[in-house]
Amino acid sequence: EAQQRIQQDLLTALEAFSIPEPLKSAVHHTVMLGGKRVRPALCYATAAIQQNPNFAAVRRAAVAIEMIHCYSLAHDDLPCMDNDLLRRGQPTCHVAFGEDTALLAGDILQSMAFEILGSRLFDQGPMVDPSIVLKQMQILATASSKMVCGQVLDLQAEGKQIDRQALENIHQNKTGALISAAVMMAAVTVFKGTDPAIPKLREYAQTIGLAFQVQDDILDIISDTAVLGKTAGKDQQVEKSTYPALMGLEQAKVYAQELHHQAMAALSSFNDQAQQLSQITQFLLARKS
Ligand code: IPE
Ligand code: IPE
Ligand code: MG
Ligand code: MG
Ligand code: MG
Repeated sequence: EAQQRIQQDLLTALEAFSIPEPLKSAVHHTVMLGGKRVRPALCYATAAIQQNPNFAAVRRAAVAIEMIHCYSLAHDDLPCMDNDLLRRGQPTCHVAFGEDTALLAGDILQSMAFEILGSRLFDQGPMVDPSIVLKQMQILATASSKMVCGQVLDLQAEGKQIDRQALENIHQNKTGALISAAVMMAAVTVFKGTDPAIPKLREYAQTIGLAFQVQDDILDIISDTAVLGKTAGKDQQVEKSTYPALMGLEQAKVYAQELHHQAMAALSSFNDQAQQLSQITQFLLARKS
């Protein structure tokens, strides 16, 4: 359901912009073709904890976070970064459209995300409290900067021995931050800043965010290119600093499981209300791509 909803909403959002070719096609290629849509699903599931979320604000947050994520993928794949040819089962953006256009596709997605967040797209009822929108923007901006910082640390760490704390810092920044932001941008639409639900959700989100990249590292080794939709075995080839490289594959798998259990524990105070979030957590633990 989340995948269908975000697919429709992303299309609606993209159609609101007038973009010249070939940039328009590059943006559509980067955003519309495939992807698990985990971050939007986390937005919807977090909002579902409460009975009557302001759903327009949640839908905008889901679109914005997926746009930032897609931008990060287009740039991550560039020759000057991970130099990858395959993404979501398709040629990477720069392979299909050239490096110049791929770079600009990422750039425009970044600013479009914030434009959508501050717009009234999907609004039906009364306007969302502007202080909530401001909080969403701050959460997304902070997480996007962290993602970039994580990416530079990731590149620096290629071919190097780094300790566990340094690796955790990279993973929390390059991937954990945006996953957390998906949860927190929805959380601020349904909970006041003083609500004890907020720190619980933050704990959940940070744990699941770290788990996500630990598992991405594992899947790079144990899965194959056809299932992943991206080139398997790439991390070892370029000597990335990863959890399997640091602690061995089996220990990394154990750690990923531990993190998933920790994430579930952080949800325990919500009882049945967090059913969707716990379902997503189980989906993430079992994922093969
Ligand atoms: C891949 O993210 C990049 C990481 C941050 C690990 P996803 O695994 O969410 O990629 P898509 O969106 O499903 O393609
Ligand atoms: C991705 O990490 C982090 C991003 C910010 C995109 P990876 O470089 O491991 O992601 P994949 O494996 O290429 O999807
Ligand atoms: Mg990378
Ligand atoms: Mg990569
Ligand atoms: Mg990876």
